[in-house]
Amino acid sequence: MKITITRPDDWHLHLRDDDAMAAVVAHSAERFARAIVMPNLKPPVTTTEMAIAYRQRILSSLPADTRFEPLMTLYMTDLLDSEEIISAKQSGIVKGVKLYPAGATTNSDAGVTDIQKLYPVLETMQRETLPLLIHAEVTDSDVDVFDRERVFIDRHLVALSRSFPELPMVFEHVTTKEAVDFVRESQGRTAATITVQHLMYNRNAMLAGAIRPHFFCLPILKRNSHQQALIEAATSGDPRFFLGTDSAPHPQHTKECASGCAGCYTADSAIELYAEIFEQAGSLDKLEGFSSFFGADFYGLPRNKSSITLEKQPWVVPQSYPFGKDQVIPLAAGKQLQWRLVD
Ligand code: NCD
Ligand code: ZN
Repeated sequence: MKITITRPDDWHLHLRDDDAMAAVVAHSAERFARAIVMPNLKPPVTTTEMAIAYRQRILSSLPADTRFEPLMTLYMTDLLDSEEIISAKQSGIVKGVKLYPAGATTNSDAGVTDIQKLYPVLETMQRETLPLLIHAEVTDSDVDVFDRERVFIDRHLVALSRSFPELPMVFEHVTTKEAVDFVRESQGRTAATITVQHLMYNRNAMLAGAIRPHFFCLPILKRNSHQQALIEAATSGDPRFFLGTDSAPHPQHTKECASGCAGCYTADSAIELYAEIFEQAGSLDKLEGFSSFFGADFYGLPRNKSSITLEKQPWVVPQSYPFGKDQVIPLAAGKQLQWRLVD
């Protein structure tokens, strides 16, 4: 059995830089036409000029005869101003601004400390129609790590969407039923990305019987009832939910250690994994909208003209891939997958 769908896009991707990027970018380019590239480099991509240079490095690291369009983002800091927003919009290559609460996740030290102070910048983004991409977790040490997304909704998102009803906002990598409900009930222009790992797994996969660091990402995997709410949202055909892998490669030794970092690597098998999830939910017919249409429509970009074909032919995901001087372990390492990407 084969299915052919319009070539998908990845609306949330970490590509890193230099050798690490060169090692992983082909996995995304084989599957996806475009990707929203996250700006959390060290130092972060905070200006249009830096985004233009980063985009050039991505294009240069692509294997010859690969077509892949990186859609760039700026990293919001307390110092971001409206002038930068205007030049970002005018550049034509910057498609969004990423809000990381300071300290929320990998490389987010330079993130925002007080969202209220950035309201003038958000006004400009709303006027220019430049989407705000949100890592929606509070960072307060007194808030339980499993509650940080839910608390962010109450403390910040409700007010944000009320204050900026015309600002396109992406609630990135939603992980809870509360997040799904918020997006569904929102009056504003709010959408959400959903990752492979949050559809495939719940926290048992990471913690039951043994601690499995390759399942550790942020926002952290939640309990099964949340996983079910995400599957329901992704496979419902609701255009406010679309594909964003949040594929976030880290060297093996920085995940398999006493203080391991957050991020799952899924770029090597992402669309195959989504296909498996949609098939299991009896909704394979909804895969194309989720993967190839709704994100492009939300960002006001044309849908892709080319297509990909997946064949029902089991294959086993490699245990690791070279990653600069290191190795990266994919989320699905050693797992037998049902769908194979046909060249
Ligand atoms: C991301 C990373 O490694 O850059 N990690 C993650 O767990 N998702 C950062 C992020 O998007 O939160
Ligand atoms: Zn991310």
